Amino acid sequence: MSKVTVVGAGNVGATCANVLAFNEVADEVVMLDVKEGVSEGKAMDMMQTAQLLGFDTTVTGCTNDYEKTANSDVVVITSGIPRKPGMTREELIGVNAGIVKSVAQNILKYSPNAILVVISNPMDTMTYLALKSLGLPKNRIIGMGGALDSSRFKYFLSQALNCNANEVEGIVIGGHGDTTMIPLARLATYKGQPVSSLLSAEKLQEVVAATMVGGATLTKLLGTSAWYAPGAAGAYVVESIIHNQKKMIPCSVYLEGEYGESDLCIGVPVILGKNGIEKIVELELTAEEKELFAKSAAAVHKTNAALKEVGAL
Ligand code: 2OP
Repeated sequence: MSKVTVVGAGNVGATCANVLAFNEVADEVVMLDVKEGVSEGKAMDMMQTAQLLGFDTTVTGCTNDYEKTANSDVVVITSGIPRKPGMTREELIGVNAGIVKSVAQNILKYSPNAILVVISNPMDTMTYLALKSLGLPKNRIIGMGGALDSSRFKYFLSQALNCNANEVEGIVIGGHGDTTMIPLARLATYKGQPVSSLLSAEKLQEVVAATMVGGATLTKLLGTSAWYAPGAAGAYVVESIIHNQKKMIPCSVYLEGEYGESDLCIGVPVILGKNGIEKIVELELTAEEKELFAKSAAAVHKTNAALKEVGAL
């Protein structure tokens, strides 16, 4: 029996739970929220689609009852407030740090062996906070940002190439921030061909720029932050772990010298399997990409420093 808990039954958490159920990623999915009745209601609504969609996963909801989450294999943390138009993800740190820390501590009381997938923003810093405050081995704490950013990159590439997003390969590394993420255009391919041979440098630059502000563009359109792709990206990460798929997915993970950086969580490609992070993949970067990565890491370190200022670490 496999069990996944999703903490936070807002837009992102509920979407994640819904994708997990629809794809039968786990036998059991539990949603937990602080708002009375919300996760119970959403779980019941989802279960009423089981016959229509043909899935056998059981989804349940609970209001702040961590006992119900006991013995989860993977726990997805989406708790906290989302950004509003004009806000950066980094501005959420004061409120979200306290929430994420207490959620993670409660979860571990009942699921001491769980692998944690962090979605709450600022995602790299919340992943780092979970790692530092819980003292878990680094293979068990994973920030999902790069999975989302890479999916957005593939979407914008597919728009430019007029093809299906599944025909495109693309990786985004670095921080999950409007100015810190690094879509690796040089390594992106369409049916095995470098996209740089199919798109002009100018067009490719437009794709990179659109990817970087992908979340902000949606926040502006929606009045709150996006949820379909963030929720599905969380489920995609969980699936590779639960089904031991060993997919290579860019995620925010703790570095200890890889890519020339240490003591931070930042997006790099990793192999995800039953042990969580099975391997950090070190891509050969150009001097220019290395410089971008170092800048991105410096920005993430700066946001992490705010954890001390707000008393979270
Ligand atoms: C996004 O990029 C919520 O950070 C998330 O949409």
